[in-house]
Amino acid sequence: MTEDKKGKLHFWDAIWDLRVKECPCDVHFCDWLEKNDVKNASIFHFGTGSHHIVGIRTAENGSNNCVLAITASPGEYDAFVKLAIDRPEVEKTYKSFFGDIYQLEPRLLPEFDVVTLFHLCEFRNERNDEYGALTDLQVLEMLTDKTRPGGYVIFYTKSFAFDTAEKVIAQWEESRKVEKIGLAETLLVYRKTA
Ligand SMILES: C[S@@+](CC[C@H](N)C(=O)[O-])C[C@H]1O[C@@H](n2cnc3c(N)ncnc32)[C@H](O)[C@@H]1O
Repeated sequence: MTEDKKGKLHFWDAIWDLRVKECPCDVHFCDWLEKNDVKNASIFHFGTGSHHIVGIRTAENGSNNCVLAITASPGEYDAFVKLAIDRPEVEKTYKSFFGDIYQLEPRLLPEFDVVTLFHLCEFRNERNDEYGALTDLQVLEMLTDKTRPGGYVIFYTKSFAFDTAEKVIAQWEESRKVEKIGLAETLLVYRKTA
């Protein structure tokens, strides 16, 4: 690790535009919400991209869903600020914040009806260990604890780290009361049972 990164937040030094062929998870998630007629729900979303499509489509489709979304990319966060200023009707139900998901503080979080963890195991490494960040399993368990009974936790099967995520998911199935609902396009949907 280079000296200038040591001890600093492990942020994402990149910007992800909407590239549906390469990474369709956010679009498939919007499709899933609409197909399942999910309305008036509160959603936690991991990884906004600079496109912020989950927040925008949610605001535009009349569902009255609201989204709290995390990005670890300064450029994606800048794109959110611009979006919020340009489109207050989107900002009303869509809030994005900058941070490392592995540093999420449960006391700052409300309960959610739907949680997405599409990028589980993709980004965490020894740089997060340096400041004692949560593990992938701890983030998954904590966000499950913040999910209402009957709510959904959703993964992305085409993630480049899905083979690692599957091992974490297997541990989580033992530690939390959840049931596998099944596949929805590239997504894997679970429901919290209690
Ligand atoms: C490849 S992009 C995908 C964005 C979007 N979900 C999509 O599919 O178009 C990965 C996303 O994960 C976010 N990310 C990476 N590491 C993160 C971390 N430690 N905490 C929160 N978000 C993170 C990035 O900011 C980025 O939005």
